[in-house]
Amino acid sequence: MQPTLEIKNLTKRFGSLTAVDHLDMQIFPGDSVAFIGQNGAGKSTTMRTIAGMSSPDEGTIRIHDIDIQANPLQARKHLGYVPQDLALFRYMTGLEYLTLIAKIREIEPGKISDAVNELLELCDLRQAQNRLIREYSGGMARKIAMAGALLGKPGLIVLDEAFVGLDPESTFKLGEYLKSYTNNGGSLLISSHVLDMLQHLCSRFFILHHGKCVSDIDKPTLVSQFESPDTPNITAYYLKMTDQSSLIGQFAATQHAGSQKSAE
Ligand SMILES: Nc1ncnc2c1ncn2[C@@H]1O[C@H](COP(=O)(O)OP(=O)(O)OP(=O)(O)O)[C@@H](O)[C@H]1O
Ligand SMILES: [Mg+2]
Repeated sequence: MQPTLEIKNLTKRFGSLTAVDHLDMQIFPGDSVAFIGQNGAGKSTTMRTIAGMSSPDEGTIRIHDIDIQANPLQARKHLGYVPQDLALFRYMTGLEYLTLIAKIREIEPGKISDAVNELLELCDLRQAQNRLIREYSGGMARKIAMAGALLGKPGLIVLDEAFVGLDPESTFKLGEYLKSYTNNGGSLLISSHVLDMLQHLCSRFFILHHGKCVSDIDKPTLVSQFESPDTPNITAYYLKMTDQSSLIGQFAATQHAGSQKSAE
């Protein structure tokens, strides 16, 4: 099977700092990959480079076998991307913004209205569709950016901290939408620090530490690592893989206390 995303030997430096260090990653149709790592690990830098917003110092990135550096316009047709720091056309209305994205993504003119309305509905933005994005709340702006990324169901969706500031109902609805997107062959790369949510949503966990991959594990293998297969815990696994030994014991104690309390 051809990967939707293929990163080979990606390296990005800022002066003497190596933010991303010879990174390899492959994502296939149907993969839902959690991109995890501490603040400054290099997640956003990697994601910006995937989207062609930043150029690598070394290495290559191919989306649907198209090199993002050599052919950015072609490659981006297969990509929906929400950056951590939103970059939106703030003087457009939500409806204008989504209609523009639909045209860029070459959705058939007769299908644009239904596709846009479906996402406005999903994001609970129908009432706000004719307001300028600059007047949106933080959560509303993030949702319109998410809607833009999902529009037309591109082959690869890259979401950097996409759930920050979203209300519980939007988080649930968008999470379910993303699950159905990957169940139907889409590929998702999502970063978040809310590991419980990623554990629920994702089928693979890719841990970045100081710009390097320290684990790329699928859910069944993660489950098999735990004594009690009913309670695999990505937080415990993350602390182990990033060598945070002082926190592992404390975390286990809080989990144990929590389970005892709920049994009482
Ligand atoms: N434009 C830049 N100039 C200089 N250094 C940068 C720049 N962008 C990122 N960095 C540095 O690169 C490293 C990786 O940053 P990055 O934003 O990729 O981390 P992150 O994993 O997304 O972190 P967070 O979880 O806080 O979002 C950090 O040390 C950061 O300070
Ligand atoms: Mg980041």
